[in-house]
Amino acid sequence: MELREKIRTKQARIGIIGLGYVGLPLAVEFAKTGFEVTGFDVDKSKVDAINAGKSYIGDVAGEDVDCSVKAGKLKATDDMSKLHDMDAIDICVPTPLRKTRDPDLSYVVLAVEAVRAHLKPGQLVILESTTYPGTTDEVVQPTLEETGLKAGKDFYLAFSPERVDPGNATHTTKTIPKVVGGMNEASTELAAALYGSIIDTIVPVSSTQVAEMVKLLENTFRAVNIGLVNEIALMSHRMNIDVWEVIEAAATKPFGFMPFFPGPGLGGHCIPIDPFYLSWKARQNGFECRFIELAGHINGSMPAFVVERVGEALNSQKKSINGSRIHVFGVAYKKDVSDMRESPALDILELLLRRGALVTYSDRWIPELKHNGAIMRSQDLPAALADKVDCAVICTDHSGFDYDALVKSGTLIVDTRNALRGVKGSSIFRL
Ligand SMILES: NC(=O)c1ccc[n+]([C@@H]2O[C@H](COP(=O)([O-])OP(=O)(O)OC[C@H]3O[C@@H](n4cnc5c(N)ncnc54)[C@H](O)[C@@H]3O)[C@@H](O)[C@H]2O)c1
Repeated sequence: MELREKIRTKQARIGIIGLGYVGLPLAVEFAKTGFEVTGFDVDKSKVDAINAGKSYIGDVAGEDVDCSVKAGKLKATDDMSKLHDMDAIDICVPTPLRKTRDPDLSYVVLAVEAVRAHLKPGQLVILESTTYPGTTDEVVQPTLEETGLKAGKDFYLAFSPERVDPGNATHTTKTIPKVVGGMNEASTELAAALYGSIIDTIVPVSSTQVAEMVKLLENTFRAVNIGLVNEIALMSHRMNIDVWEVIEAAATKPFGFMPFFPGPGLGGHCIPIDPFYLSWKARQNGFECRFIELAGHINGSMPAFVVERVGEALNSQKKSINGSRIHVFGVAYKKDVSDMRESPALDILELLLRRGALVTYSDRWIPELKHNGAIMRSQDLPAALADKVDCAVICTDHSGFDYDALVKSGTLIVDTRNALRGVKGSSIFRL
């Protein structure tokens, strides 16, 4: 049977390589729709969790994993030879940066090499990992064609960027429009048909490069606008203007303005990283991305500014950071997620410790964290307050923090998220 027909009748067997924040929701969505899905991951603990019907990603309900596994629609393996049995393969592995801020494609390369080893005619291969324009046709295609099979003729190849927003209950895998760009028309059509089985709106584009660039435009747009609003926050502080009130009022304009909010710095696996994939590739073409570098510079300076505010807060009570007890609220990179990757709270923690502070933290999403080899454990608010905290820093405004109790305790507070919107008092220091 042709792949198109297999997709239409949900008989296509789908392999998802990388069962993380992107791959697992996708695998579950395909399985729930009736496809037979095999998840491939090198992390045995994830493979075991899935096969035991358990979810380890906040946005994926354990019940959905359990039902899909029990129905025989979802299983996981670390045996890459099973890729040969798949009709469509979706690659969702990490794309971090090296220390030099150059792209680290090693995970993609390993995954593609595994596909190459088991590629068979008629398969559809889709790359979802965020990457620089040109990756699909310069890295993935030549590797797969080493088999002697030709892309677009013997197998199909496409890029489709993932737009999942962890912690966002309004926009989910099914409802977020999906951009798809194939290396030829047949590849675009097949990839669009596959995603069209689980996603409401498909946006086909003319090439893999356009699809790759779309994702980088989206994330660069966020990084640059967050950089802009962080700079406005820094300048408003100098001018003694409440930047939060300014943004709130500006956001009443019904056209031509979109609110972005300042904060302690960028975090997560996307916004602090992806724009540098673009600037790296642009440099190869003799082009300097000034906006990206400037935004990176401003956003990267925010943790130091937060620590400066902590110093000012303590100074108002004739105290120093050195020797003070400082309690950080929220260490995950954003509200109500358990992801700490690139979290600015880690930089803030480090800067405070280096200045001699005694640091504790609360975060129900991150029960413990490792810092410089030592393990720190999350403390609840009453325990922290009983420890006579000198200053509290709200880094990530998770739901469920008892801000009333914190304010009533009279503790100095540095609020980097406007979590205490409308609350006034000499003990509250905003960005
Ligand atoms: N997390 C997000 O919000 C988000 C949103 C959009 C796009 N993305 C992009 O999607 C991609 C994946 O991100 P993520 O957040 O899901 O990462 P993740 O770290 O949560 O998951 C990646 C998974 O891939 C596995 N893996 C690594 N190498 C492998 C290999 N060779 N074979 C099989 N499995 C392998 C890892 O064990 C891990 O389970 C990245 O390119 C990222 O930039 C992420």
